[in-house]
Amino acid sequence: MPITTRLTERLGLATPILSAPMAFAGGGELAASVSAAGALGLIGGGYGDGDWLDAQFEAAGNQPVGCGFITWSLADQPALLDRVIAHAPKAVMLSFGDPAPFVPKVREAGAVAICQTQTMAHIRDALAAGADIVVAQGSEAGGHGAKRGTLSFVAEAVDHCRAESPGTLVLAAGGLADGRGLAAALMLGADGVLMGSRFWASREALVPQGFYDAALAADGDATVRTTLVDVIRRKQWPAEFDIRVLDNAFTRAWQGREDLLRDGLEEAEARYNAAAVAGDADNAGVIVGEATGLIRDIPSAGDLVARITAEAETLLKTGPGYCS
Ligand SMILES: Cc1cc2nc3c(=O)[nH]c(=O)nc-3n(C[C@H](O)[C@H](O)[C@H](O)COP(=O)(O)O)c2cc1C
Repeated sequence: MPITTRLTERLGLATPILSAPMAFAGGGELAASVSAAGALGLIGGGYGDGDWLDAQFEAAGNQPVGCGFITWSLADQPALLDRVIAHAPKAVMLSFGDPAPFVPKVREAGAVAICQTQTMAHIRDALAAGADIVVAQGSEAGGHGAKRGTLSFVAEAVDHCRAESPGTLVLAAGGLADGRGLAAALMLGADGVLMGSRFWASREALVPQGFYDAALAADGDATVRTTLVDVIRRKQWPAEFDIRVLDNAFTRAWQGREDLLRDGLEEAEARYNAAAVAGDADNAGVIVGEATGLIRDIPSAGDLVARITAEAETLLKTGPGYCS
């Protein structure tokens, strides 16, 4: 018995799951594997490298995939959207910035316009821009985000969209990594989920083994929200966003001492970059969310889609039996 929601119906999916567009980690192979399993994979457009994006769409082959952008960065090089649209993406996701300049072009191109949001104000902006799908992202999420907890934010987003824009779908994101998370999101009224950390920990993701080992060993207490990773990578993120990463030797050395890090940036940057290349999970930013405590293996992304779907189907069919 498949799980049918407005998301599966509208996007022609076999299961209401999207893999997040993860900068650097989510390439065409991962997205294609997710899509081949009946979900929808999104390539991580990140800060925007046109040649890399072309190569990732090529790697995805004939599978229908989408792409996600960091919106404030896309605003600096808007032509990248045309370059991605030339690959006929199934969906384009915009996150972290004003989606209004980009949503109409995405929709005119026949792609689904997805806006990831972190506050109710973002949701209102996304609806005004004409988003087809709103992702309500809670702060448990791996990667950049803000302050709202997933549970109440998703429920509030569902209520708001039902009242103000009933045709707009709502997806839940942040801390969801298994069938329980998917079933819970549907119970909150969401049309599906967007999962990042769980697909980051898959064979097709572009992640060094050392990072996998650290994430597998970590429990969900072992992450922290910080700006350090952006300071050291010289990324000018808007102040309302920070990033969740593993709490490691790098974050413990500098947390609260961001100005000192800025002063000695060149030396620290060289060490950080070398650690990132080497997969040294103590001295680089390991971008994963609280769901790291639910990650115990590194299977193929397609197997993950099947597993999460089967778990959720069982829960949704039989439930925990409270009311039988
Ligand atoms: C390694 C990693 C990289 C990410 N990069 C991006 C990104 O480039 N753009 C974006 O919109 N979201 C990014 N995210 C956040 C996801 O879109 C999503 O909100 C998040 O992964 C959901 O929470 P979860 O990690 O608990 O599943 C990233 C997440 C991870 C784990």
